[in-house]
Amino acid sequence: MTFISIQEAMQQGSGEVSLRGWVHRERGSKKLKFIVLRDSSATIQCVIERSVVGDESFDVADKLQREASITLTGIIKKDDRAPGGFELSVTSFELVGESDQFPIEQGQSVEFLADNRHLAIRSRKMIAIMKIRSTYIQARERFFEQEGFYRFDTPILQPTQSEGGSTLFSVNYYEDQMYLAQTWQLYGESAIFALEKVYNMGPTFRAEKSKTSRHLSEFWMAEMEAAWMKLAEVTEFAKKELKYCIKEVVRVRSEELKFLEQDPQALLTMAEKEWPTIKYKEALATLKEKAGMDVPFGKDLRTIEEEKLTEFYDTPIVVTHYPTEIMAFYKPGDKDHPEEALCFDMLAPAGYGEIVGGSERSLDVADMERRLKADGEDPADYNFYFDTRRYGSVPHSGYGVGVERVIRWICGLESIKDAIPFPRTMLRYKP
Ligand code: 4AD
Ligand code: MG
Repeated sequence: MTFISIQEAMQQGSGEVSLRGWVHRERGSKKLKFIVLRDSSATIQCVIERSVVGDESFDVADKLQREASITLTGIIKKDDRAPGGFELSVTSFELVGESDQFPIEQGQSVEFLADNRHLAIRSRKMIAIMKIRSTYIQARERFFEQEGFYRFDTPILQPTQSEGGSTLFSVNYYEDQMYLAQTWQLYGESAIFALEKVYNMGPTFRAEKSKTSRHLSEFWMAEMEAAWMKLAEVTEFAKKELKYCIKEVVRVRSEELKFLEQDPQALLTMAEKEWPTIKYKEALATLKEKAGMDVPFGKDLRTIEEEKLTEFYDTPIVVTHYPTEIMAFYKPGDKDHPEEALCFDMLAPAGYGEIVGGSERSLDVADMERRLKADGEDPADYNFYFDTRRYGSVPHSGYGVGVERVIRWICGLESIKDAIPFPRTMLRYKP
């Protein structure tokens, strides 16, 4: 017996097929059993009749519960009344794995579903999200391959911070202490002197103490770093990456997007538009003029300000030149306006907030040492990093995309926790 997927069976459209999967729904009478079968490709309605499969087989079918695994053979035909447009008249079937009272049902609490995440990821919503996530990541790999980048892998256990000590996770490391990676960047930078254009995607850790719909303690950051690139070029490159990935998601996953009530055409239209770049100072002026929000220069944009700002645009926007003083030590000040850093954030529309953060990299070791000291760091710990500037330093830039932030946005999810199969937050770390 050759098994095919439900999707392949529907493409075939007629004749005998053999399928395998899980019971998504079931109902029936003494003579007739209806099963919605689910595999990773789709769902299909299957009809098992006592008069066709015989008493013994039908009695097994009669006891089938949700999420039991089965194999079945039958005749597929078009049926406009069936959800999905096809129906399978079963000629024989076999139970593979029983399922006794699958705990996940409609209308359960968010907490219950989170406690049972290992089972809840079988839902059609989570399947749609996980497929979109997979397609997005695969598209990004292709993008960087096409752009001539090398994939470069770096340690997760790191001896220093890079994005501020307050969100560090420390780990016992034999007799010493190490930290979980807050970013790939510092190691990524060392590679541009050998490979020029590098990228990566990896698990990233931040001990975020706030409970928000956009912060995870463990998330996946998709980073790149390129020699010779300056701010104006790297911001355009970030737009190109995101646009490419969104178009691919629309091309491959429009059914899943629709299932999540997202409009694929609207995403495509957005990906084909110009995405504006503005300076932080202009953002402050817009907030003041259009929303009466008075943010003094030198303050980071808070969530409500970001939300308000993005309301004025129907695409993501890039905001550059945030105040140097509140930026990480490696973000250099502009030569003519040292109080403004050569950095950027990309903000998604409709209040989804920051999805990308990046910058030109400082080449000024003395300035970085001073800023690290001001943060209570020992600059000596960063000698490996400063060395890269001591031997053939070149201008370079890079950025990191928050994968779950992007997935949350393009899937229109209430919480970032649904953008990852097993979320980790301050309060949620099981299963
Ligand atoms: O802006 P961030 O902190 O930038 C960096 O870490 C740089 N070293 C990246 C680089 O230049 N190579 O983080 C980058 C992105 C943010 O824009 C956001 O999308 C995401 O990572 N991010 C988070 N996503 C989920 N949960 C969190 N706690 C996140 N913190 C940052
Ligand atoms: Mg940031």
